[in-house]
Amino acid sequence: MADRIKVLIVDDIPETRDHLSKLLGFEADIDVVGVASSGAEAIERAVALQPDVVLMDINMPDMDGIAATEQLSAKVPAAAVVMMSVQGEADYLRRSMLAGAREFLVKPFSSDELTASIRQVWTRERDKLSRMIAPVATSAPAAAPGETGTVVAIFSPKGGVGRTTVAVNLAVAAASLGAKRVALMDGCFQFGDVGVLLNLNPKNKSIADLVPELEAGELESTDTFVINHSSGVRVLLAPPSPEAAEHVTANHAKRVIERLRAENDLIIVDCPAAFNDTTLAILDEADIILTLLSLEITSIKNMRLFLEVADQLGYGGNKIRLVLNRADSTLGIRVADVEHSIGRKVDHTIVSDGRSVVYALNRGVPFFLSNREAQVSQDILRLATAVVGANEAAASKADSTDKAAAKKSLFAWR
Ligand SMILES: Nc1ncnc2c1ncn2[C@@H]1O[C@H](COP(=O)(O)OP(=O)(O)OP(=O)(O)O)[C@@H](O)[C@H]1O
Ligand SMILES: [Mg+2]
Repeated sequence: MADRIKVLIVDDIPETRDHLSKLLGFEADIDVVGVASSGAEAIERAVALQPDVVLMDINMPDMDGIAATEQLSAKVPAAAVVMMSVQGEADYLRRSMLAGAREFLVKPFSSDELTASIRQVWTRERDKLSRMIAPVATSAPAAAPGETGTVVAIFSPKGGVGRTTVAVNLAVAAASLGAKRVALMDGCFQFGDVGVLLNLNPKNKSIADLVPELEAGELESTDTFVINHSSGVRVLLAPPSPEAAEHVTANHAKRVIERLRAENDLIIVDCPAAFNDTTLAILDEADIILTLLSLEITSIKNMRLFLEVADQLGYGGNKIRLVLNRADSTLGIRVADVEHSIGRKVDHTIVSDGRSVVYALNRGVPFFLSNREAQVSQDILRLATAVVGANEAAASKADSTDKAAAKKSLFAWR
């Protein structure tokens, strides 16, 4: 029975506890190991029962679900909390995530939504645990060179700060540096812009076309679904409409990234700014999260919150790198102020250049290709060089011998 998911139900209303227990009683892979009627009892029971998943009501007298989750994260870190609330407000969601919750369900939810959430958080936690344990077991490199690619997520906790711009130009720059197979996945399934920036026909295949194969079983190859851009980048587009996007789940995203990882050296994913289960699945899969911020007070505030959440999610060490986009000294906030405010150094900066960026956007040609000399292109090249581990930004101009050397050093940082 080791593979059954052990669930603890926490709710102050007895009928809700009974109802949830009965619903989950029908699931062969889920085992309700206990119930609790308050935050304090939840902690006591979780310490004794060591559940895999805790279904936690957010509103309870005495200690509420958020306070209980905070304590649980410290006392029973292996238990993943799924928060339940009648309110779906962003503030509740954010506070729950900050407290350490892994998933958020808005009541009333269907039994399918409930079981899918439980399975998702459990799979995610298990995968994370095995990844954390693996490097300890051996001091050898995680994977043989060339066997699997590196996944770089381009994320920002706030929209409109340049994720798509950076993702597209970074992919093109990495390809120009000699990275053999570079894939670019549009992870903004509802309103993806990657195709627009690359002037690709929206009638092309997209991740939505992969769903039937994913549902049927194993995904054998992404070859017939990616579009080969003239820069050499292999692009997996977002679905053509928000309706089509509804069929792509977080689990699909995870499996597609796994496949892309097997087929490419570098996989760049343009993430949504929303903090939902799809974003979490992408961030979990990523080896590096290039987290973008701008010199705006809201962007800085959200970054501070995200860094706290990232800490809770166990994204330690070098996984997160801060990229300041539209760095412009005339805006009244200096880089040093940002660093002071978020308590972390900015790893890379990209200059603000509305002319080059918007002109390129409107033509559907990445500025890195059409305006290589511009400072903004040089900044992207520097970022690409850091990401792929090549030593010299001049590699793109190098002759074939130098290119071979640059290629050799690609991915050396992994
Ligand atoms: N370095 C830059 N200099 C000048 N303008 C920029 C720069 N980077 C991005 N922009 C502009 O900022 C706007 C937002 O960029 P982009 O669409 O890439 O952001 P995003 O984070 O992907 O947004 P969304 O949340 O809509 O997905 C665009 O008009 C883009 O041209
Ligand atoms: Mg975008």
